Amino acid sequence: MALISLSTRLPKSATAYDVAVASDELDSLAPELKRAAELNGFAGKPGQTLVINGPADEAIRVLVGIGPKAELSADKLRTAAAAYVRSVSHHKAAACTLAEAPSGMSSVEAIGAVVEGLGLASYTYRALKTDKGPTLRKVAVIAGGAGVKAAFGQAQAVVGAVMLARDMVNEPGGSLTPVAFADRAKAVAKSTGLKIQVWDQKRIVREKLGGVLAVNQGSTHPARFLKIDYVPSGRATGKVALVGKGITFDSGGLSIKTSVGMMTMKVDMTGGAVVLATMSTLKALKVKVAVTAYIPLTDNMINGDAFRPGDVFTARNGKTVEVLNTDAEGRLVLADALSLASEKKPDAIIDIATLTGSVSAALGPKIAGIMGTGDEVLARLEVAAKVTGEKVWELPLPQEYRKQLDSNIADLKNIGAGPYGGALVAGLFLKEFTADVPWAHIDLGLSAEADSDDGVIVKGGTAVGVRLLAETLRSW
Ligand code: BES
Ligand code: MN
Ligand code: ZN
Repeated sequence: MALISLSTRLPKSATAYDVAVASDELDSLAPELKRAAELNGFAGKPGQTLVINGPADEAIRVLVGIGPKAELSADKLRTAAAAYVRSVSHHKAAACTLAEAPSGMSSVEAIGAVVEGLGLASYTYRALKTDKGPTLRKVAVIAGGAGVKAAFGQAQAVVGAVMLARDMVNEPGGSLTPVAFADRAKAVAKSTGLKIQVWDQKRIVREKLGGVLAVNQGSTHPARFLKIDYVPSGRATGKVALVGKGITFDSGGLSIKTSVGMMTMKVDMTGGAVVLATMSTLKALKVKVAVTAYIPLTDNMINGDAFRPGDVFTARNGKTVEVLNTDAEGRLVLADALSLASEKKPDAIIDIATLTGSVSAALGPKIAGIMGTGDEVLARLEVAAKVTGEKVWELPLPQEYRKQLDSNIADLKNIGAGPYGGALVAGLFLKEFTADVPWAHIDLGLSAEADSDDGVIVKGGTAVGVRLLAETLRSW
């Protein structure tokens, strides 16, 4: 990924720079640029780009469309910056002037969008490639003015956090084990001013995390459970809990997945990585609420003592659960984490998880489902999603489906009655562990992974949710 710096003028090393063009302002371009736009059908549409070579000793210019001037938004600017950075990916150093606040937008808002677009779209995961490319190493954002430096720093922290989460999601499951995840989290906590507790297997037994233990039963790798605290510098204005699903690989267990179904299941710790990454931004964003994160970590594997369909365990809150499908494992580890979180009576709990494929049957592969009992926290998430451009849609938690979770022999079973409404039934299952704390659940489903580049999304782990949660807490 390219290193982004703030500059007040075009650096000598830059061999490319952008020219932001609104679709209704093509006429005000310099004559040679206007001619190039006309010849090449460049209309200034959002994300449209046109590379214009000048004399050999000058930096090339890239016309970058931002759409009609009056409709300019942070999202369009972010997309434009992403398109620009892709179009100069073969340069070593580039510069971007988009952050000179377009009218109708504060320079603080503009620089955030530009840094995110440049940073997120230039991300690549190359740790396991011998060719460590890519070419683009440096991008200078040319901007100045009040508050710009601070906004730039905050945007950098957020972009860095998304990179961290993407790196973790893209790392293979055999390498990012629960212990490796916990080690990564310790390093992150240390460098970003967080307190962290890493509970080992013995502590997990003592804390009665029956769901974590059940899922971990078939694994060679011991489980871990992370509790991470952010304490604001002044008096906390509230208390929020974050919970992230950390299944480092999901084979399905004895209710085994197909080989195709398993292919991407290293991403099943996305929720955990997103929560860790979000925590890493809180100090930089000067968040005023106290935040505690709970991340259960285990893989879902098979050995001679793997938990069986029909087995019953007791969750942290005392409820007994009959496991009829070992592939519905995320809700089991989340049950313990949500119970722990609710014991502390926070103002709200937000969990994030690759919980069901079903949510993507409803919303498709690029939109996450949200549901829950906390109207205020759900509303906050929707507002934050509008700001960050991440796509979420609220789904119901219909009480009439609750009886699908009735078990013959235990308090609950872990699956519903059939293939329909699986994301909602999973949500209803989680609700049983939230006590009466206002709660929001984010089911990422397939949106945790992308099969092609799209705006700020890069093929592979998307880490969708980091900016959403960071913005939700920043504005709390
Ligand atoms: N991790 C999966 C859900 C998933 C699948 C996320 C594909 C992203 C992409 C989860 O543990 C799972 O297997 N869920 C099952 C639940 C079912 C057995 C009730 C599912 O969605 O099929
Ligand atoms: Mn599963
Ligand atoms: Zn899973």
